[in-house]
Parts: sequence; C-alpha cells; structure tokens
Amino acid sequence: MPLTRAKITALGCYTPPKLLTNADLEKMVDTSDTWIRERTGILERHIVEKGVATSDLALEACRRVLEQRSLRPTEIEAILVATVTPDTFFPATACNLQHKLGAVGAWGFDISAACSGFLFALATGAQFIATGTHKKVLVVGADVMSSIINYEDRATCVIFGDGAGAVLLEPVEPGEGDVGILDFLHEVDGSGGCFLQMPAGGSRLPASIETVRRKLHYVHQDGPQVFKYAVRKMYEVGQAILERNSLTPADLDVFIPHQANRRIIDATVERMGLRPEQVLINIDRYGNTTAATIPLATADAIQQGKLKKGGLALFAAAGAGYTVGAVLVRWAY
Ligand code: UT7
Repeated sequence: MPLTRAKITALGCYTPPKLLTNADLEKMVDTSDTWIRERTGILERHIVEKGVATSDLALEACRRVLEQRSLRPTEIEAILVATVTPDTFFPATACNLQHKLGAVGAWGFDISAACSGFLFALATGAQFIATGTHKKVLVVGADVMSSIINYEDRATCVIFGDGAGAVLLEPVEPGEGDVGILDFLHEVDGSGGCFLQMPAGGSRLPASIETVRRKLHYVHQDGPQVFKYAVRKMYEVGQAILERNSLTPADLDVFIPHQANRRIIDATVERMGLRPEQVLINIDRYGNTTAATIPLATADAIQQGKLKKGGLALFAAAGAGYTVGAVLVRWAY
C-alpha cells in the first residue's frame, strides 16, 4: 500500500497570562537578571495560576487549531499529547483533553519524551496519516513545568516556563507537491537518564512523606551534562537528516530548535553554519516550556515571515531521557 505523507494544516498556541520575570526570581532565590540573561538568554516566562493543568493550556491551543480550519471537535480522529507534566499519572492528559474539547469519537494517548516530546508525537501522528487510517490527527506539546519546579533551586527555577502548542495533521493531497513532513530522525539514550529527571512519584520511588521531604518530586538536573549532550546531538541529528535528504543547512528557510538555553542554540547554529536570519529564537519571552517550545517557536516563525507556504523548516530538540529528535518539514499553508 503506498504511504500518504502528512502535512501540518493549522497551528495554535497558548501561554498563561501570568509572567514570572527575572526581577521576580531575584526576590525568590540568590540569582540576578544579569546571570540569567547571560547564561540562558531568558528574560521572562509564563506560569499558570494554581489549579491550572496541562490539559487546560492544551485545550486553548487546540481550540485555536480547530478555529483556523473551521472544524468541529467531532471531526478529530486522534489526539496525541506530548508532556512530562500530565494532569495526573492516569487517566492520560489526552483523555482529559478529548473530553474538554468535545472530540467525541477520537482516541489518543500521552507521549513522554520531555523536550523532544513534540517531535516524537509529530512523527507518531504522521504514521497514522501515512497508513491512510486517519485523516485528522491533533498533535499537542504542552507542559506545566511550574508544577514540578523547586522555586528554591536557582539552577532549575530560572529556566522553565509553562505553555502549549498544537498542530493538525492531515494527508497531503495528490498533486500538492513536495510538502508536509518529509522526514524524521529520533534517538533515545537511556544512559543519560540520571542527568535530568524527577526522581520520585513513579513505581521505583512511590510518593511518600520521605520523598516529599527530600524534594524528590521536583526537576533534578545536572545542567552542564545536559548542555553538552544537547549541543552535540542536536547538531548530529540536524546534519544527518539534512544529508540523507541531499540538503545542506543553506537550503533551510528556518531552523527551529528546542528553546532550552540561548547558548545551546547559538553553539548548534554555529556548528551547522547557519545564518542568524535562518534561526528562530524566542527563549527570551518563554523560557524552556519543554514539549511546547517547538510549536511556540513555529508560531513566531510564521508571524515573523521566516516560515511561509513552501518554506523548508528543520525542527530539532534534545532533552531528558536522553531523547533527541529532528523533523524536516516543507510548510504546506
Ligand atoms: O530542555 C531540557 C534540557 N535542559 C537543558 O538543555 C539545560 C542545559 N543546561 C543549561 O542550560 C545550563 O547548564 C544551566 C543554565 C542549567 C546552568 O548554566 P551553566 O553555565 O552550565 O552553569 P553551571 O551549572 O556550570 O554553574 C555555574 C555557576 C555555579 O556556581 P559556582 O559553583 O561556579 O560558584 C552555579 O551555582 O553558576 C551558579 N548558578 C547560578 N548563579 C546565579 C547556577 N544557577 C544560577 C543562577 N543564578 N540561577
């Protein structure tokens, strides 16, 4: 059976209105606006009010997608949610989202691949389109990182923010040309798991008074280790996916990297030999929103005119797991 290529036909994003600025963080931990700007490139991030969950952010992003395509929720066939901050361990955030959206008849599930989550979900969703079994798949990247951040740990609390992004995948029509999701290249390396994790709350270390006392339900990170992995692997997968498609960095209209640290992006861009105007950076306004960074950055790329119909985009992300991924897309609308 010939495979059908998937294309992105709509994109919606949502960030909660509340801002957490570097000045706010200066009052909370021993840090400075200068350190945060120089070491991460972040100026502010959005965080939720108490009680707001990942599916609430995802819902707003998905509503914007449906609005763009003038679709009814019941036309959605599957919902994939990439997140490391699900509303609950179970049921899946995809189920909560399906219910709130009113996507009656859809199925779905969550994907846990941290910062690479949106790209892993995009590749997964594209397979359902490829086989011809599905015609409308929602792919969501959403995280409420503020729910698992220790706001007494200056090494992690300055980095992360909350947000959501969603895209609709539909089949490329015959005669539409070389558009859509052209290729993906993903890897995991579990040997790096210890360098970025939430140690407790799972089956190995179930929640207890002791795990809470030891602050094991928060993000624990060896920043420099993850930094080195991210720079090396985002470059490697980026180069490899271009090479196997007989492309070079110069062919790209836009490189949309995961927004974890401005210095990671700059180092990757320099190694790939990309021109600054080919790169989308918006970490200054959002921080690291984990699974939401790529859709949030793609929305900005469209808004800034860097990504237009027919434009070639390379998405790349790396993070906890370790996980790393690259997706090559020719923009279809
Ligand atoms: O998306 C998920 C994947 N995550 C990442 O990609 C994150 C990758 N890592 C990073 O972005 C960086 O490693 C960090 C931003 C987390 C840290 O920056 P760094 O330049 O690697 O700093 P460091 O951890 O090597 O620490 C350097 C110094 C230390 O002080 P001493 O030991 O030299 O006195 C830290 O205690 O900076 C100190 N420091 C801070 N100082 C002020 C760490 N965090 C802060 C802070 N404010 N917020």
